[in-house]
This record gives sequence, structure tokens and C-alpha cells, in this order.
Amino acid sequence: MAQVQTTTYTLEAFIEDVRNIFKNEIDPHVQAKTVTEHLKVLMAVPGWLEEKLELEAEGGYGRFSLHLDEESGHPGNGWWLMASVQKPGQDNLPHDHGVTWVVYGVYKGSIQQRKWRWAFPGEGVDKAQIVEHGRFIQTDGDAAYFMPGEIHDTLNVEEGRSLVIRLESQKLDRVTRFQYNVETGAMIVMDR
Ligand SMILES: [Fe+2]
Repeated sequence: MAQVQTTTYTLEAFIEDVRNIFKNEIDPHVQAKTVTEHLKVLMAVPGWLEEKLELEAEGGYGRFSLHLDEESGHPGNGWWLMASVQKPGQDNLPHDHGVTWVVYGVYKGSIQQRKWRWAFPGEGVDKAQIVEHGRFIQTDGDAAYFMPGEIHDTLNVEEGRSLVIRLESQKLDRVTRFQYNVETGAMIVMDR
């Protein structure tokens, strides 16, 4: 990371760096790890996201596209950088991201990440189901990556809004992926 100037790093420079990572690195794990480190540097620069989204001091909830890149990505082109301005208590159901990897960064606020995995009889459960196997809180400047097939859910645990940045290695509406019912183990294909 020595080559990155931390005080002057910009969204544009980050986009260029991510493009180069996709072009020069074929291992998706190394891609995810490297992009995560770059996103941390970008998130350490104050003010740019509020300015980009023209956010007021409160509210402004929703999802916003920051960059869609048709030149590179994994496993196919079309990586997507987006921001979500989340309400207090905003959550989602456990889901995976298909064949893509994703990076979740918290620019400001705090979200809880829970991870889930399949468990079968003989592995401490009576019936096949997904079980939690860890949780952590991400707060200002934290970024974490999730590998293809990993299952997680998120919850905004901030009393106010959380500003979350997500990078999808290929835009998720282009891949088949699933949502999970914790009680029954039922899976459904997520809407595109
Ligand atoms: Fe996710």
C-alpha cells in the first residue's frame, strides 16, 4: 500500500486501481483482499462521500450507484461500486453473492455482520440448516470481504444512519444467488 497517497486518494484513483487489480491478478481471493485494503484508504479520506451523494446532516436513505465498470470484474466484467445510506435497524435476510466476491465498507456508522454456514445431522444439529458461526461490528473506516458462496446478513446498529459502501466483483443482478430461511433451511433464488 506504500504507493497510495493516503491524504489525496480519490474515488477516481480508487476506480483506476481496482481496474488494474482485476487486469493483473487472477486469484479472486487476492483480488478481494487487495481491493479491501484500497477501500480502507479511500474511506479514510473525509467528506467525499457526503459530497458525492449531496447528503444533508440526516436522512438521505437509499441506494446509490458510484461506478459500474464494464471493462473488468470477476468472474465476468461489470464490477459495481455502490453506496447505501441505511436507516437505524435496517437489516436483511441471510444471503450469498453467488460466484462473486463482495467488499462491505462502513464509511460512517456501524453495522453488524453475521456469518452463516450449512450444518447437517452429525454436526451438532438435528436437521440440515444454516447456523451462525460468527459476528462482528464494522464501524468508521472498516472494510471486510466475503468470498464466493459465503452466507451473511447485515444490521445497522447505529442509532442514526450508516453510510455503507459495497463493491461487487460482478454486479449482483447478473448472477444467480440465494436467500436463506434460518428456521427451515429453505432457499430461494434472489430477485434480479
Ligand atoms: Fe451481502
